[in-house]
Amino acid sequence: MAGRPALARGHDVADRQDLTGKGAAVRAMPAPALLRVRPAGKPGAAATSSLGVRGRLLLAAVALLLPPLLGGALLLGGAYTRERRVAERHLDETAHMLSLAVDQQLGQSQAYLRALVASPAMAAGDIAALEAQARAIDLPKGYWFRLASAIDGRVLINTALPPGAPLPGGQLGPNLRAALDSGHSRVGTLFNSTLTNQQAIALHEPVYRDGAPAYVLSLVMPSTEFTQLLTDQQLRAGWIGAVVDRSGGIIARTRDPDRYVGQKARPEFIEAFNNRTSGRMPGLSLEGVPIIISFRHTPSQDLVVSVAAPRDELGREAWRGLLVAMAGAVALFALAMGLALRLARGITYPVEQLAARAASLGRGAPVPTETLGLAEADAVAKVLADAGQRLARSSAEQEEKVRAAVAEAESANTALFQAHRMEAVGRLTGGIAHDFNNLLQAVSGCLDMLMRRAADDRSRDLIRAGMQAIDRGAGLTRQLMAFARRQALRPEPVDVADLVRTMRQLLMHALRADIVLEMALPQSLWPAMADPAQLELALLNVAVNARDAMPNGGVLRFVAENVTLAPDHTEEGLKGQFVRLAITDTGSGIDPAVLPHVFEPFFTTKEVGKGSGLGLSQVYGFARQSGGTVHLDSVPGVGTTVTLFLPRAADAPRRPAPVVEVRPADRVETRTVLVVEDDATVSATVAAGLTERGFAVLQASRADQALALLQNGDTIDILFSDIVMPGGMNGVDLAKVALVLRPDLAVLLTTGYAENLPPLEGMRLLPKPYRMEQLLEALDALR
Ligand SMILES: Nc1ncnc2c1ncn2[C@@H]1O[C@H](COP(=O)(O)OP(=O)(O)OP(=O)(O)O)[C@@H](O)[C@H]1O
Ligand SMILES: [Mg+2]
Repeated sequence: MAGRPALARGHDVADRQDLTGKGAAVRAMPAPALLRVRPAGKPGAAATSSLGVRGRLLLAAVALLLPPLLGGALLLGGAYTRERRVAERHLDETAHMLSLAVDQQLGQSQAYLRALVASPAMAAGDIAALEAQARAIDLPKGYWFRLASAIDGRVLINTALPPGAPLPGGQLGPNLRAALDSGHSRVGTLFNSTLTNQQAIALHEPVYRDGAPAYVLSLVMPSTEFTQLLTDQQLRAGWIGAVVDRSGGIIARTRDPDRYVGQKARPEFIEAFNNRTSGRMPGLSLEGVPIIISFRHTPSQDLVVSVAAPRDELGREAWRGLLVAMAGAVALFALAMGLALRLARGITYPVEQLAARAASLGRGAPVPTETLGLAEADAVAKVLADAGQRLARSSAEQEEKVRAAVAEAESANTALFQAHRMEAVGRLTGGIAHDFNNLLQAVSGCLDMLMRRAADDRSRDLIRAGMQAIDRGAGLTRQLMAFARRQALRPEPVDVADLVRTMRQLLMHALRADIVLEMALPQSLWPAMADPAQLELALLNVAVNARDAMPNGGVLRFVAENVTLAPDHTEEGLKGQFVRLAITDTGSGIDPAVLPHVFEPFFTTKEVGKGSGLGLSQVYGFARQSGGTVHLDSVPGVGTTVTLFLPRAADAPRRPAPVVEVRPADRVETRTVLVVEDDATVSATVAAGLTERGFAVLQASRADQALALLQNGDTIDILFSDIVMPGGMNGVDLAKVALVLRPDLAVLLTTGYAENLPPLEGMRLLPKPYRMEQLLEALDALR
């Protein structure tokens, strides 16, 4: 076991547990937390106290996914910031570009002004020539020149008015003053021209003569000109371009110029415009939309150009990208989790199955053997299945052992009880038989004395009948004594095989023609120590029982062999060498409920008059008294085996005396006798004796059977019948009918009952008991 993996040791635990009981088995195999079986139908209940495979795999998936996802998020954040910056730069560049465009516009206007300022008429102060020259310049539509005195602001030229038309007075307003103060050209604030009735701005150029300011020449431009300029730049949709003057007034606007041109920009923007030459800041548009505004002063510092983009539009692309990426990440995450779960299931299922199988093993239930689809789990499952099989095998063996032990104990108990019972019955029987014998002896003595004194024949007949009854009683007590093992046995070494073989004739008469007699009697059989006459009687009793058990024929088999017994081989504890003779029939068998009683005296299942119940008692008593025993095994419907054990004899059997032919040699017997006798033993003995002497013998146990044979027409010379028989018809009546059927029939009757005899009407009577010679003499007398 040393080299086995840890799991293999689990078997041993399981094996041992089986001996200590199922409860212990379950207790001794606590499943680790990971292997705990989840109750069916409650998913997710597992791994409450520690992290299960599923949880660990999910964690692994998260751990694997998290860094790339975080990296991705950082990248996306960076991209978003970059994108936003690009958008902001684009806003700034647009503002710059617009400022340049506006500046260029202003530069053109300034060129017109410079042309006039540099003209000789201006130098000469010839206003009329200057006006003519100014009117001659082809200005864009809506533009006009104005010349005002630097001293008092009086208007000297206004090309918006027709030539010669009276000029308005004019004054030195803040715009002109500022231009004069700065000493160079300067854009003024927005104003509403009364002449053209539209918003306009002017570029003012101070003109010096002899080092002193003499005039301010202005070019007036309609504000629509700048709106158009902004519109021409084709800003991105949603963006708003605007031009604002120094005071924050809106000169031009790409969206809703009619509404907003002339209004002030929001104060926070104005403040920023005043403080910085360029910049970017969040805020609200005039419409109230959150915006990011980028602004820039024109290079001449006169005007501010701004571009505003709705704040939510800026970086919207980046935002959209971020969203897409996030959605992708979430999908990826879900996919990974799904995969991890699937993977986990591929592991948790086998693990849970393993746990369930381990639990089955613990309970001693069968362990399933189908594979789980996970190599490692399958290896463990195989070990578990093997363990389960071993466990099942060992429990089965254990159970079988226990069953066998219990059965053995039971049978030993039964046998012991049976032996005790037979012992007790034997003692009782012996006691009664003994006392009964004494009584018979006393009565016999009395009758003997009476006989000597009896004067008349009648009395003597009565006394004789009494004596016959006493003989019968004595026979009965002999049989009882035999059972009680108190009969006078004359044991001698017997060749059992030889004895059985010579009994064949006798057995054939005891059996019927439809019963096959088989014998397996080895030559090497030991001699047995037994009373041969009693052994013959025992075998005859067994054979007759077998015949009765096989009403439809069968096989009767004698098997003899030498056996050496140890004390535990038989209930009686026989020890040593024995000759065993087993006699097996194929008859009805014996009901198990009846079996314990068959050896008891007077126990019979046969109908009244058919059996005395003393046959097996004789067998038992004889066998036990001989120092052996008898066993009876029976299977209902299959058959019965009676086994005799007789102790081995130390000496060889004496050779049987050669059979002396008692009959004179000249007399060859050819007659046929019909023996009618209800006692099978007697009938068989008689038949065998007669057959030996040359008679042909027919047997019947009842009067009606005998009549059937007589009516058959078979050759029958003599009817030899018992008088008292079962079945209603006695021997005398049978003889009368027989004589009617066959008037030349010779009749010999026999009986043990001398009293109450019906009138015999001249028929001969042989009283029982008779010896064979007496019977032969009586038969000879019939000739
Ligand atoms: N070979 C057998 N097959 C079936 N039953 C048997 C067999 N031998 C004995 N028995 C049963 O055992 C009982 C007792 O047998 P036992 O020989 O002692 O008495 P019996 O045959 O009934 O009467 P008898 O005194 O005429 O022999 C029988 O009545 C019969 O039921
Ligand atoms: Mg019998």
